Amino acid sequence: MSAGVVLASGLAACGGSSDGGSGGSGGSGDITMGFAQVGAESGWRTANTKSIQASAKDAGIKLKFSDAQQKQENQIKAIRSYIQQKVDVIAFSPVVETGWDTVLQEAKRAKIPVILTDRAVDSSDKSLYKTFLGSDFVLEGNKAGQWVVDNADANDVNKDGKINVVEIQGTTGAAPAIDRKKGFEDKISADPKIKVVASQTGDFTRDGGKKVMEAFLKSQKDIDVVFAHNDDEGLGAIEAIEAAGKKPGVDIKIVTIDAVKDGMTALSEGKINYIVECNPLLGPQLMDLAKQVVAGEDVPARVETKEGEFDQEQAKAALPNRQY
Ligand code: AHR
Repeated sequence: MSAGVVLASGLAACGGSSDGGSGGSGGSGDITMGFAQVGAESGWRTANTKSIQASAKDAGIKLKFSDAQQKQENQIKAIRSYIQQKVDVIAFSPVVETGWDTVLQEAKRAKIPVILTDRAVDSSDKSLYKTFLGSDFVLEGNKAGQWVVDNADANDVNKDGKINVVEIQGTTGAAPAIDRKKGFEDKISADPKIKVVASQTGDFTRDGGKKVMEAFLKSQKDIDVVFAHNDDEGLGAIEAIEAAGKKPGVDIKIVTIDAVKDGMTALSEGKINYIVECNPLLGPQLMDLAKQVVAGEDVPARVETKEGEFDQEQAKAALPNRQY
């Protein structure tokens, strides 16, 4: 195991290696799940990790948890370690879409069911995993793009008949970055005034969003709108815009995806203009699916998360009860 892989029992009380045999035993009391998390890159990810850890505890599932620090090689090592330990079920959020077939075939040979959560893999062999639980990222991009189209007059901040959008993409090769970009472009193509004039990855981090926005502010004049693939990148962009002496949300409009508390606070203050929700609280559904696949029951190939959108007034109303 490389030093880069942080492998730990998610629950101290349930620590130690699994005694579950390959294929699992079916009773929730003695299920061990190996979970290979992407990392801790965003507020969304922190909320997602907490949801998984708390739900495993509630469901009586022993959790072995690893943080891959946004590196595919670390996730593959963690999955191989779970196979060696003969866990009953493996779940993971693939950091990028491609390059998983070999390790997933190893899990299949060991008769350990795999559940994809949050992000999908790009593989033609659908037998390599039991189900995929997560959001429709294309739809999220659609919603962000539709907001730019529906508010075209207000979004033409420079009042020159063009809406210049700069895009801060998520992690290169990750499903949400690929799908949100596509979903957004599909919607803005309806209005020839709206153009993405620059697009760079901010790696789903606040620091990444800030650096990319600093570069955009130097290279692009007349930016009307920022489309950030998550709240953290948008929050980093706000810092860069303020440092450049401009007012985020007014001089440059901002639309993001996630709706974590920090993002919603910025929205309620008018620094972000619109947020499309991506729900990180996948833990309860994941544990239910894990029990079913370990028991050998059929599960749907795709389980979608339901989510909404927020403007400033809706953010103010939702914030007091926001869990993450
Ligand atoms: O895969 C979900 C995305 O990953 C979230 O939008 C982002 O915040 C996270 O890092």
